[in-house]
Formats: sequence, C-alpha cells, structure tokens
Amino acid sequence: MSKPTATETALIKKAADRSAVFGVVGLGYVGLPLAVEIADAGYRVIGFDVQRRVVDTVNAGRSHIQDVPTERLAPLVKAGRISATADPAALAKADVISICVPTPLSKTRDPDVSFVLAAADAIGGVVRAGQAVILESTTYPGTTRELLMPRLQKTGLTVGEDVFLAFSPERVDPGNPIWQTRNTPKVVGGVTPACNRVLRALYGPVFDTLVPVSSPEAAELVKLLENTFRSVNIGLVNEMAIVCDKLGVNVWEVIEAAATKPFGFMKFTPGPGLGGHCIPIDPHYLAWKMRSLNYKTRFIEVAGEVNSEMPLFWVRKVGDRLNDLSRAVRGSKILVVGVAYKKDIDDLRESPALDVIRLLHQQGAEVSYHDPYIPALDEDGEHLESVPLTKERVAGSDCVVIVTDHSSLDYGMIRANARAIVDTRNVLRG
Ligand SMILES: NC(=O)c1ccc[n+]([C@@H]2O[C@H](COP(=O)([O-])OP(=O)(O)OC[C@H]3O[C@@H](n4cnc5c(N)ncnc54)[C@H](O)[C@@H]3O)[C@@H](O)[C@H]2O)c1
Repeated sequence: MSKPTATETALIKKAADRSAVFGVVGLGYVGLPLAVEIADAGYRVIGFDVQRRVVDTVNAGRSHIQDVPTERLAPLVKAGRISATADPAALAKADVISICVPTPLSKTRDPDVSFVLAAADAIGGVVRAGQAVILESTTYPGTTRELLMPRLQKTGLTVGEDVFLAFSPERVDPGNPIWQTRNTPKVVGGVTPACNRVLRALYGPVFDTLVPVSSPEAAELVKLLENTFRSVNIGLVNEMAIVCDKLGVNVWEVIEAAATKPFGFMKFTPGPGLGGHCIPIDPHYLAWKMRSLNYKTRFIEVAGEVNSEMPLFWVRKVGDRLNDLSRAVRGSKILVVGVAYKKDIDDLRESPALDVIRLLHQQGAEVSYHDPYIPALDEDGEHLESVPLTKERVAGSDCVVIVTDHSSLDYGMIRANARAIVDTRNVLRG
C-alpha cells in the first residue's frame, strides 16, 4: 500500500472533524437531496447551479425538489450550512466537489456529456491541491478517467497524491419513502486506492453504508448494470403483456401467480413504457460505449425496442375500446389520467404519457389530462393544462386512459362513471 501523502492525511482529518467544505454541482433531483444529507452529516455545503432560479430558491430556503421538504432545507440554509451560487469561482473554497449534472441523450440517442464537460471545465478552473472530486452523474465507463482526470491534472497536480478523484453513482429513487439518499448503500470507485481511502473518510459520515469497488470504471458499470437490469426485465414483462393479449390471457394474473414462487423469480410489472431520466436513457450510454468497441449489446437494444413500442400498444387498445362503442379515435374525447413518469412524483421527463398523448393527437383525438403533480405540459406543439378529475369530466369522455397510477386518485369514481377505460397499470385490478 502506498504511503498516504500529507494532502491525503489533511483531507481525511477535515472529514473527521467535519471542517471539509463540500461543493455540490447541480442542485436537481440528485444534487439537492445529496446536499441536504452532506449538511446533516455536519459539513458545510456550497451548491453551484447554472440556473439562477434554482440558486435563488435554495438561498431563500425553499425546496424545488419533491423529495426534499422545505422544512428540512430551510433550517440548514438559515444556519449557513447550505448556500447556493451561480458563480463557479466559489468552488475554489470547496475541499470536496460532487458533480450531479444531467447526462441526457443527444437527438441521435448518443451520450450527451456536455453538462459533465462544462462542470469539469468549471472545476478545472479552480482545482488546487487538497481537493477531492466525485462524479455522481450516470455515464459510460471511462468518463471519470478520460474526461475528468485530464482536467484535474492539467495544472500539474497528480490524482491520488495531490487531488483525489472517484465515481460514485447516485441511486436516488424519487418518491420512495423507505430508500432515500442516506440509507441506500453508496458505491464508490476511486482512481487509486488513496482516492478510495479519502472518499471513504469523506462520505462515511454521510451514508449509512459505503460499498467500495476497485476502480471508477467498475462503479460506472454498477449503475449501468442496475438500470439495464430494470430496462431488460421491464421489457420482458411488457413483451409478456403483448403475448398474453394475443393469447387472450390476463398478464397480471400470470405475473401475480408467478410471483408466489419464493425463489428464482423477481416481479416486474408491464405498463405504458419507460420514463424518467434514468432507465430509458442509461442503458444507451453502455450500448454506445460498446459500439465504439465493435460490440452490440443485444439485450439493451431489444428491451429498448419493446419498451418504446408500449405507448402504441396502449393507444391501439384505446382504438379497440372506442370501436366497441362504434366510435372512431378521430374526434373522440380522451381523458389521460396521470402523466408523470411514475406514481406519486412530479417528474415528466421521458414520460410515456407524452407518447400516448402525441399518438392520440396524431389520430385526431381531443385529448385532455389530469395529473395532481403536473399542472401543465407541452407536447407536439400543444400546451395542455391538467383538468379537474370530476364525475362530469369522466362521464363526458369517450375513453379514460390510466397511464400513471397516482395513489391519491379516486379510481372507484372513474370505474363507476367512465364509458370506456384503458388501464395500463392494472390499478383497477382486472
Ligand atoms: N433523477 C433521478 O432519479 C436520478 C437517479 C439516479 C441518478 N441520476 C443521475 O444523476 C444526474 C443528475 O440528474 P438529476 O435528475 O438530478 O438532474 P436535474 O436536471 O434534476 O438536475 C441537474 C441540475 O444541474 C444543473 N446544471 C446543469 N449543468 C450544470 C453545470 N455545468 N454546472 C452546474 N450546474 C449545472 C441544472 O441546472 C439542474 O439544476 C444524471 O446523470 C442522472 O442520470 C438521476
């Protein structure tokens, strides 16, 4: 084992007495909950975000993220444990910088690492000996070493001696009341053993359990495996939904019965398709990387194809229900219930509801929607606002399509008043 440098020892001491200052880059769904946990562990946090609105909201002690109650954020801001800034120069004061910026796909479905690069450049402008940098954004294996490391070393600093670098995937599950940032085990993969030692000291007080792995590439792949696992298994049950439909069998009955097997089966449920910032996107980061190495990741491709066909599958069901009423889709009033990408959250990103609405519009339907968490949306050039979920609205619609099964909605009322229902989540149970 290499002897710890004085810089490593000093940073570990700053972790022990909590005098280390954290910078969190990107105060969104991942960054803000992380900032709160870090502050709760006793550190001071400087949040850096490029959006002025986000910075002002946080500095006013208000939370713009559903999983972070304002009552939890406000006292931390008031006590000076969390502050926000739009000035990247403020990161010079941070001993540790956690990067939580978006990693979307480009129009051609290739990784768009421009936000990571912008953050890395901002950090590269302030980096000094004695800092640690942790990338949290989901990305392809190699990003930490290939994109971040050169920017930290360009001023002559050496990673593992003067500065410390690691990848630690964020695993937040928005809306999950049990598994939150602190109690979800945190994987960390440093570039060198010294980076792992420093990370363990810094993040140890923040998370209940740390899971060190031997490299940033391993940590990057952990996240991609987790999300590819979900995408593939959701793809499998979605295909099973199509299979059961063709065979005239109730897919949910089959899945519930299969799930009684106490070993060797894990329950996934079919639905309108994938949504959110992670599962529809992350596997493509791996597929892209492997294409560059001349390897085609077949499971990822097939799951992506099946999952992205689901909105069309359900829109066809709307056509079938309307046909039973001797109506065409064109000119019919369709009420979409739930548009967030999953239940009980306010996130619309990549939501399959948007595809459902677009496909129905294309067929000439008059679409309205209700979602208690999403007051308005824009899709396909149309601006829609959530309508109240009333008996009259339900009864006045030709078909109700339940896309997101928010817990607070009155499904009994929908069942009692709708002329036709397409239930993509089995919330009406059969
Ligand atoms: N949302 C989730 O459930 C989730 C879960 C696990 C992992 N992730 C991953 O975490 C990362 C962040 O996702 P998110 O959902 O928090 O995104 P988000 O869009 O909610 O937040 C990102 C924030 O970063 C800011 N930002 C963008 N570029 C910046 C820059 N150069 N400097 C400073 N701030 C910048 C944006 O203004 C925004 O406030 C992504 O890689 C995502 O895949 C997300």
